[in-house]
Amino acid sequence: MKSTATLGDLRQWAIATLTDVSPSPLADADRLLTTATGADAAALRAFPERIPAAAAQQQFQAWIGRRRQGEPVAYILGEWGFMDLELAIDRRALIPRPETEHLVEAARAVRGQRILDAGTGSGCIAIALARARPDAAIDAVDRSADAISLARANAERLGTPWIRFLIGDWYTPLGARRYDVIVANPPYIGADEPEIHQGDLRYEPREALIADADGLAALQALISGAPAHLTRGGWLWLEHGHRQGEAVRGLLQIHGFDAIETRRDLAGRERVTGGRLQGEER
Ligand SMILES: C[S@@+](CC[C@H](N)C(=O)[O-])C[C@H]1O[C@@H](n2cnc3c(N)ncnc32)[C@H](O)[C@@H]1O
Repeated sequence: MKSTATLGDLRQWAIATLTDVSPSPLADADRLLTTATGADAAALRAFPERIPAAAAQQQFQAWIGRRRQGEPVAYILGEWGFMDLELAIDRRALIPRPETEHLVEAARAVRGQRILDAGTGSGCIAIALARARPDAAIDAVDRSADAISLARANAERLGTPWIRFLIGDWYTPLGARRYDVIVANPPYIGADEPEIHQGDLRYEPREALIADADGLAALQALISGAPAHLTRGGWLWLEHGHRQGEAVRGLLQIHGFDAIETRRDLAGRERVTGGRLQGEER
């Protein structure tokens, strides 16, 4: 592409280049073009005749080349939006998804000062909750030391340095500590699911995505271990696959939860389920 290419030329070229490889060619092209050139999204449409600087054009073309190879936009840019946060993101952690915002909303509505985010990844859930509830004591656990280092940096940068980050297997690093709400977006994809070899998932950490053969192992571990780490009447909120709602509700019931409720995503699919621990602390 010539260095006299306009915003409109670059945009059209990028959309055409990505059409057969990305599920979102227009959004990808616009996000990468606004970042490379400093133009805002409205300017791309209002002033297509503008000619960006040569260095910005080269940057944009290199990014489109990487996106065409399959690399997620979030990893190309090193940042991604979640709720009102702009998180630093790289291959150490899962890219935060919009469905997870439902989980934050459910947890935010629970009264109580002690919150645990299990499997924190980039820290997106813990940081969103800490900003909404600066009075709460928030712990965040992940088995991946790489993810924890990214989450810690995000918490510092986004003004929530008081979150306590712990490395380890689910509840193991917590000792006997109890919480008023435990929230988790655990790995829930089965090892044989074909989607694991497709799209952005190919670039994300396997341990963030795959649970076991049927995808329920992590959800099961979190639910069965929760009664020992919740206060009486405490809540457990979990994200899960859209075909796992019934299994999650069944597990919550077996392990002594009531008021079990499932929330759906914008496509109407069951994605988030929670319940309240009945009776005495165990
Ligand atoms: C689906 S990702 C979610 C990341 C982040 N909470 C989000 O919503 O974007 C699941 C996270 O759980 C962590 N994880 C997987 N198995 C774990 C275990 N046994 N103990 C603690 N963390 C675990 C992974 O490292 C990963 O960061």
